[in-house]
Order: sequence, then C-alpha cells, then structure tokens
Amino acid sequence: MGNLSRRRVISLGAALGLVGAASPAAAWAWSPKGSVAGAGTGTDPEYVWDDEVDRLLVSLIENGRVPAVNAAMESWVDNDDPLPSGLPADLTAYLRKVNRLPSWADPAKLARAADFNRRKDTYLFMLYGLGSGIMSTVIPREARSVYWSAGGADMKDRAAKTFTFGYDLAQLNGFEPSGQFVVTANKTRLVHAAVRHLLPQSPHWTAVSDQDIPISNADILVTFHSLGTYVRRKLLDWKVPFPAEDQEAFLHSWQVAMHLLGVRDEYIPRTWADAEEQSAQVLTPILAPTTEGIQLAEDLLGLPSQVDLGVTRGFLNEFVRYVLSDQIGDWLGLKRDHASAALIRTAWPAFILFREGLTPVAPGAFYVFDQFVRAMAMAFLNNGSSGTTTPIVIPTGNRPS
Ligand code: HEM
Repeated sequence: MGNLSRRRVISLGAALGLVGAASPAAAWAWSPKGSVAGAGTGTDPEYVWDDEVDRLLVSLIENGRVPAVNAAMESWVDNDDPLPSGLPADLTAYLRKVNRLPSWADPAKLARAADFNRRKDTYLFMLYGLGSGIMSTVIPREARSVYWSAGGADMKDRAAKTFTFGYDLAQLNGFEPSGQFVVTANKTRLVHAAVRHLLPQSPHWTAVSDQDIPISNADILVTFHSLGTYVRRKLLDWKVPFPAEDQEAFLHSWQVAMHLLGVRDEYIPRTWADAEEQSAQVLTPILAPTTEGIQLAEDLLGLPSQVDLGVTRGFLNEFVRYVLSDQIGDWLGLKRDHASAALIRTAWPAFILFREGLTPVAPGAFYVFDQFVRAMAMAFLNNGSSGTTTPIVIPTGNRPS
C-alpha cells in the first residue's frame, strides 16, 4: 500500500469524503452477504478475472482476427441491434449469453437513475471528469495499465472513449432496448479481456506491475468506488439534494454496469453502506503517486487548456485539489493558484445553492463556473469536435515506449 500510514489513510479518506479506512492491504474481508448475490464463496476477487472472454480474446489476438472483429462491431451500437454478422461463432455465442441485463435489474430504478443523471449532470460531469478521472491517476495499477496500454499514448482519444461509457450510462434510455449502454459495456469487457492478454507482453508494464494479469474483479471494484462511491459521497458533502430513492437508483445503475463488465455478483455491493465498507478496504489504502500516473494527470489536465474558453491551468489545478484534497494535488505536483483556490472555496458552494434553487441570488462567479463546465465538456466529450461519441475498439498492441 505504498508509503501511507494508517493515520494518513484515514485523513485522506476523510478528505475524499470516503468514510472509514480498514487496515491497509488487509486480506479480503468483505462479506458476500453484503452483495447483490447475498452469498458467495468469499474467494478474494484479486484472483478473479473473466475466464471465458479472456480465453476468447487470446485466440482472437493470436490469430490476427481483432481488426475484422472491430470492423464487424462498428454497426453494433444499440442494445436491440442484432449481433453483427461476421464475428467468429464462439464470440457470437458468448455475446448472446452476456449481452443482456441481469435478471435482478430493476427497470424502474434504472429509469430513475437516468433521470437523476440528467437532473444533476453538471455536478456529475465535474466529479466524474476531474474527481474520478484524476483519481484514476493515483490508483497505481490503473495508472500503470492505462499508461502502458495502446490508449495511454493518446489520452485525448482515450478520455473521449471513456466518456462514451459515461455518456451511454447516463442516457435516459441507456439500459432500454433503444439505448446503447449494454453494448458499450460489452465492448469494454472485450477491451479489458484484450488488455489482460496484451499488457503482460509489455516489458514496460511487467517492470512496474505488482500483478501478472491486470484488471481483476478487485481492480474493477476499486475503479467503481473511485467513480460511483466517491461521486455519491461528494454530492452529499456538497449538500446537493439527493433523496434516498435517487441514491438507491444511482447505485443500481452501477450494480448493473459492474455485472456487465464481468464483476461477479458476489462482489457487487447491495447497499451504499456495503459499498462504503468495501471502498474503505480496497480504495483508500492503495492511493499513491506513480511516475505513470503523474504523466497521465498532466496529459489529462492539459486537455481543457487546448480549448480556449478562459479556463486557466491554475484554476483547473485548484479545482482538482478542491475535489480530491491537497495531498493528491501535491502528489501530482499541481502548481498552486491561491486566488483561484479562494474563489472556488467560496463561490462553488454558492453556485450549487443557486443552481438548486436554494438561493435566488446568482453568485458573482456564476459565469466563471458556467464557462468552466462548458470547457470541460468541449475538452473531454466527442474528442472536442464531432457531434457523436467516440467508438470503443479492441486494441491489438501496447504502448511501444
Ligand atoms: C479500456 C471503462 C476498470 C484499464 C476501457 C474502456 C472503457 C473502460 C470505457 C474503453 C475505452 C478505451 O479503449 O480507451 C472502465 C470502467 C471500469 C474500468 C467503467 C470500472 C468500473 C478498469 C481497470 C483497469 C482498466 C480496473 C486497470 C487496472 C483499462 C485499459 C484499457 C481500458 C488499460 C485499454 C486502453 C487502450 O489501450 O485502449 N475501460 N474500465 N480499466 N481500461 Fe477500463
């Protein structure tokens, strides 16, 4: 768990709004009773990957069939699209099994989550983009695998693809037959399976990795907590109105997303209390800077400054510090801009109050934040240009150097 003492883990957890912190790097101690399955073997998810699809991808990559699969998958977009013709028979048979919602998915909750996502899109966008997005750079395994995979060399393209996932998840009809999320999640599952075969062949990744195969079930849970669990906590901290039904629906959309990404039901938290407990065990203690993560953060934070909407890098740095703590800001070497820090500390809460109709007076800095949100959208969505999302494709290699 890097060099964090237990006391520092607790204070970092508190700064991120993540309650509690279990003993660092403890053995897997989260009970499957708190999962959507309600029971399980208790096997450590650290050693659970996604066997069936992992095997398929080994054979597709080794036989040079990935480009043809990517080409065939281009027209496979909507949840109710037929599976594309031209896929190998075993891949089609596999997708036929998994390209559907789990039996426990609740359409009413998913619809409510979608409506919530629409109502709160500004905060969600900022928190996922600058909170979770930059947090991913201090999750060592994630930072190293993203950096050394093919996509790490072009963070603009990668950020746009990742936003495709978030965008499809948040659409009103995302989980319905006319939506696209089920397909996007399945494509992502294929990408992850490819990465599990490719990264172990990268001498750069193997030199720094503490595991033989990346993206275990445990790693995906960590990432979920850096997204869903973190964002929910922050919304509550910010006193954004968030009724219990909305919170439950928001969790449900993530439960289904994790299932579709290949996480076993026995690890998917059933309630937010179960999720918080798991997060305290798996996420907070492992946060640490790495060479790769520092570079990725620099790449990501450079994106908004490519769109000139008056957002200074200092302002961006301070917003990251505001949502992720000074500790993480220091790890990433984010230069201070004390004037922006003071503005954010006072005006962001006022911006929220005004947007939520809890105060009739627009804060003086309203325009600044409005522009800020716009600049983020331009920088991260749609590769900053076209009106469509960026398709997700299976990689065939790693980052060369
Ligand atoms: C690719 C989402 C967990 C590493 C992707 C893509 C998406 C995605 C949408 C496709 C976009 C692209 O190709 O760039 C997610 C979500 C996760 C998750 C929602 C969990 C909730 C993880 C974890 C790791 C990881 C835990 C590693 C520790 C990667 C890598 C790629 C990738 C290396 C491929 C990049 C490339 O070479 O193109 N992920 N991911 N992901 N993901 Fe994940």
